[in-house]
Amino acid sequence: MPDLDWQPEQARAFAARAVDLWTEFLKRLPSLPVAGRWTSAEVAEAACRPVPEEGLSDDELFGYLRELTFDWSMYPGHPRFMAYITGAGTVPGAPADLLAAGLNMNVGGWRLSPSATEIELHLIRWFAEQFRLPPGAGGLFVSGGAMANFVSLKCARDQRAGWNIQQEGVASGPAMALYASEEVHVTTDREADMLGLGRGAVRKIPIDEQYRMRTDALRDAIRRDRDAGVQPFAVVATAGTVATGAIDPLHPIADICRAEGLWMHVDAAYGGPAVLADDLRPLFAGIERADSIAFDPHKWMYTPHSGGCILIRDVTDLERSFSAMAGYIHEDKERTGHGVDLGMMGPQFSRGFQALKVWVSLLAHGRRAYARRISHDAALARYMAARVGERPNLELAAPVTLSICCFRYAPEDVPTGPGREDYLNELNERIMTEIQLDGRAFCSNAILGERFVLRACIVNFRTEAADVDALLDVAAELGARLDADLRPGDQRAASG
Ligand SMILES: Cc1ncc(COP(=O)(O)O)c(C=O)c1O
Repeated sequence: MPDLDWQPEQARAFAARAVDLWTEFLKRLPSLPVAGRWTSAEVAEAACRPVPEEGLSDDELFGYLRELTFDWSMYPGHPRFMAYITGAGTVPGAPADLLAAGLNMNVGGWRLSPSATEIELHLIRWFAEQFRLPPGAGGLFVSGGAMANFVSLKCARDQRAGWNIQQEGVASGPAMALYASEEVHVTTDREADMLGLGRGAVRKIPIDEQYRMRTDALRDAIRRDRDAGVQPFAVVATAGTVATGAIDPLHPIADICRAEGLWMHVDAAYGGPAVLADDLRPLFAGIERADSIAFDPHKWMYTPHSGGCILIRDVTDLERSFSAMAGYIHEDKERTGHGVDLGMMGPQFSRGFQALKVWVSLLAHGRRAYARRISHDAALARYMAARVGERPNLELAAPVTLSICCFRYAPEDVPTGPGREDYLNELNERIMTEIQLDGRAFCSNAILGERFVLRACIVNFRTEAADVDALLDVAAELGARLDADLRPGDQRAASG
């Protein structure tokens, strides 16, 4: 029954149309709006259609995909997209994904994915070297930072509990606690919940004026828990916080972990790839002392979604936490000479060839191009901070460490007094919403203490200084308009 078994010529014709669409998209990308002003109902109405009983013609199908591409998508690879931490998507990464899907190896088992497994292991070893982890370190690809942090904390929990927690569960020992700064990524709470520890197990440590964890407060929190009979087991240091890009003091945290017998995990989901850039690398001193590191190629290595990485100082910890043997996957590795089954080293059993798009991007661009571009992104964030400082109604909201710049629209004539901060929060919230609907540029927000601020994060190899200026122009224009809407003219005149 050949219904589904397309011959190579048909496959080529089909793929060629997809490639044509993709290259037209690349050509038109800078002139497209970054996003549109749509509602969920409008998008669902346009993008979803009934499952057909019989296949569509290629013309009809590609007509539909064309509309999806140009009328109903938004574009994180647009030069003026600077929101959240969403990489632009490397160009070579896209065809690599096609090939990975075409080969369809299952990277859960070595014999189902010989070259894919070896490439993933090779790439992971190279990443471990970039972080200066010792030989014996290893890891694997997962969906992204949230999952990489979860896998790391599962290893931490299992290794530091002191009883057989994998077999007996969390109820067989004392309550456990882990420590992270107030700026830690929100998914850490979810990970603690998923580990059976409860969200309350995450102790949020106060930060300094640079948004970094205060290690004196960390020491106090650990001592308080020990006094109360709670068992501390891990510290999550962040190397590149999601709000401002701050890097926690890694050496002092490593010293505390060593003294206290705690697992040191570094959430470098965003910042990690910056170790490739010579000028940024010194900011990460101490990361090589971590027991585990999470970092995301789909953020600052720009590769298409999704693909994050977990690195563990002693890779056998991963096997201890995740191996699960089933009778039906018997194999005599001594006889076959086969290698590691990555499905035994993480939560996924069947796995795709996520590493290929990262590998092909590195092969096509080379390490140096990454180093230059990552460094350039950080330079653009500093450029943005300087431009913010020069503009009348904009103010810088946090120091720039990596490639994030936080700022807000703060008209000089808003009267100082009790209502000022509330007003600026409301105004900037409205500005962010309008920017995201406007289509000319796209940024997101951060909450810094009590302040709602605008935030640009440049992990985009298409962004240049003119795009940064354009975002500031849009913010200033919309800011002036919304300020006029929100504040009656007489109020502005009186205060001006
Ligand atoms: C510091 C940090 N950790 C974890 C995550 C979650 O990563 P992902 O969205 O890839 O799961 C993010 C996402 O922005 C992050 O910035």
